[in-house]
Amino acid sequence: MNIVFEFIKYQLIAKGRHGIHSPFVYKLVDEILNQKIPNSVKLQQNALFRNLKKSKTKINFQEFGAGSKKMDRQRIVSDVFRQSATRGKYAKLIYLLSKNFEHKEILELGTSLGVGTLHLHWGNPSAKITTLEACPNTFAFARKNLQSQCYPNGPINIENTLFKEFIETSKTNYDLIFIDGHHNGTALLEYMEALDKNSNEQTIFIVDDIRWSKDMLMAWNQLIQNEKYQLSIDFFKMGILMKRPTQMKEHFTLKL
Ligand SMILES: C[S@@+](CC[C@H](N)C(=O)[O-])C[C@H]1O[C@@H](n2cnc3c(N)ncnc32)[C@H](O)[C@@H]1O
Repeated sequence: MNIVFEFIKYQLIAKGRHGIHSPFVYKLVDEILNQKIPNSVKLQQNALFRNLKKSKTKINFQEFGAGSKKMDRQRIVSDVFRQSATRGKYAKLIYLLSKNFEHKEILELGTSLGVGTLHLHWGNPSAKITTLEACPNTFAFARKNLQSQCYPNGPINIENTLFKEFIETSKTNYDLIFIDGHHNGTALLEYMEALDKNSNEQTIFIVDDIRWSKDMLMAWNQLIQNEKYQLSIDFFKMGILMKRPTQMKEHFTLKL
């Protein structure tokens, strides 16, 4: 897959708020996505980022997903932060989605250092967040990081498990599901199918790295054509899917 070509194509198609007729999507673009992150949250983010950026702690990484394009098994925290933590405008996107919909239950597939988890938490500190990480050493680091950033026994529940095993037994209905691990097209389709029982008509599915590989993009294209999801939004790196059965099926490519 040629990512430069993909980006040019995206830039040519992507819209701002003009020409959007869906009231839900118009509100998302006009009222939600241009909100500012409060200074109190920025201070917490900066403190966390400063620590992770300079951390030379080594994590002996066990691979359970599609593998990294750049990192070895022995990973330094600052490298993991640079390569796989959700940052910048995509961090803001997940923060704002968490903040604006009064979600009670959030699920994140792929904790890594816990950076994405914290963006979701800062957006909605009272939401219960469950985050899943299979690598035991990454899990141990993330648990410590999350406890130091929040507080012991806070609303974040981190599980050392494979996504598949957790989903098989989970009965919880989630309002927001962030899929950010095991970037393989077939696996993504299987997780989406398995998570159907854990979602409702308004659940927001955020899928990360939809252009990570040819098969991830093919899976994304298959998902947006699936009649089950009436609303889909392409933000280039991330995509959003919602069932919203009462609306007409619509797909948007939006600027962030
Ligand atoms: C891209 S990182 C997650 C980044 C994080 N969500 C953030 O926003 O900072 C993906 C993580 O998912 C974990 N992972 C990959 N495949 C998995 C699987 N099948 N089950 C559980 N964890 C998995 C990896 O070990 C890795 O730490």
